[in-house]
Amino acid sequence: MRTIIQGGTIVGAGDTISADVLVEGEKITAIGKLGDKRRSDDKIIEAGGLLVMPGGIDPHTHLDMPFGGTRSSDDFFTGHRAAAFGCTTTHIDFAIQTRGRSLVDGIKTWKVKAADKAAIDYSFHISVVDPTDETIAEIPTIGREGISSIKVFLAYKNLFQIDDTAFLRILGVAGKAGILTLVHAENGDAIASISESLLAEGKNDLKYHNVAHSAVIEAEATSRAVDFVEITRSPLYIVHVASGRGLQAIRQGRLKGLPVMAETCSQYLTLTDKAIETNDFEGAKYICSPPAKSAWDQKIIYECLADGTIQTVATDHCPFWFDGTKKDRFPGKELGKSSWAKVPNGVPGIEDRFAVLWHVGVNSGLINPERFVALSSTNAAKIFGLYPRKGTISVGSDADIVLFDPKKRHRISASTHHMNVDYNVYEGMEVIGWPVRVLVRGRTLVEEDKWLGEAGFGKFIARPSVGKIL
Ligand code: URP
Ligand code: ZN
Ligand code: ZN
Repeated sequence: MRTIIQGGTIVGAGDTISADVLVEGEKITAIGKLGDKRRSDDKIIEAGGLLVMPGGIDPHTHLDMPFGGTRSSDDFFTGHRAAAFGCTTTHIDFAIQTRGRSLVDGIKTWKVKAADKAAIDYSFHISVVDPTDETIAEIPTIGREGISSIKVFLAYKNLFQIDDTAFLRILGVAGKAGILTLVHAENGDAIASISESLLAEGKNDLKYHNVAHSAVIEAEATSRAVDFVEITRSPLYIVHVASGRGLQAIRQGRLKGLPVMAETCSQYLTLTDKAIETNDFEGAKYICSPPAKSAWDQKIIYECLADGTIQTVATDHCPFWFDGTKKDRFPGKELGKSSWAKVPNGVPGIEDRFAVLWHVGVNSGLINPERFVALSSTNAAKIFGLYPRKGTISVGSDADIVLFDPKKRHRISASTHHMNVDYNVYEGMEVIGWPVRVLVRGRTLVEEDKWLGEAGFGKFIARPSVGKIL
């Protein structure tokens, strides 16, 4: 069965052209004026007035993850369905090593979680939380599992955090083996120490989350991580950057030619620290680590989206119910009613990233549509070894395609979203620009507000070798 997407404007990370797209099976097989190549049984999708963009790639998600005394509320089906409604056709989730077990064991555990549920395509990074000699020796071998990126945490003391000795060692070993290291950059020792003092003084209000996770806590760890890149010369991708000073350190590192890359998240484009600082428990909805920072930090994030310091916009999708006491729900944010320190850290967003970035970035004139495609799809594909199968509308690529109406208005709300969670951090925000159709490997998963996908359609995409340093 052939499909022709006809009369649209194809936006890529490098250029924009008016052309038709021929899809045969799962692949794009021709691009151009295809009128004379039409066959009578071709399915025609009219795309006049629409933008034809590569499906979004979210390189940072946590589906079905045990965390904070509970688990994230979207699994690999509900999360994928929501992602597709929001134009994301591939994501990279974080598998986590269990202490005392191998990295491969962690990867296999996450592959099982996803296999029968997946509705869009996916891959994994593996988080190294038990950096023994055996674990570190295993890092160069993970390509055999189709994985070429590892993650380390400089925060979450006594849970995921590794120390500087291990960080330096891992970065060196991974770099030599062609494996990309990702890092959560906050100073976990400082967070633990400040938290202990705050709690001892009875400071349990939500606003103290921002005190324990202040901008300097993130900036210090980010600068240290950049310095470790200078020592090892190994590539590093810093996840969910929210601090202006952290970004300035990354910018300086890049100016020196260091192979350091930065990801921010869509929630940092709209939220500031004020979101948490409410007098009621509403602020718990926005508790994540690192938390959104000041308006100044947000301004630097905007600058860095435009000037190339930031390569990708992800979500760090890690949803917890606001009220997890209802039937069929996991415990949620209410776990922290007595103290900010017990609120599960994470926010939902897998469905909203594409439209929020378009609205905040393109509609405001901050970035152009090509840069939008780079930030939402192409750069993640290039960095993580998915390109050119994913992240581009090109002959031979998977037909992961978004038909996007740049004039269509949509009001974001938990009452209409598809994420398995009872609130939305963009509640009430009106965006201009919304999808009308989303295809994954040639199959339409979403048409207007209709769901046409199914569990089990999504495929694990092996990335045995990492991509490019951008
Ligand atoms: O608060 C967050 N970000 N939760 C998810 C885990 C992480 O740190 O990425
Ligand atoms: Zn993190
Ligand atoms: Zn995360």
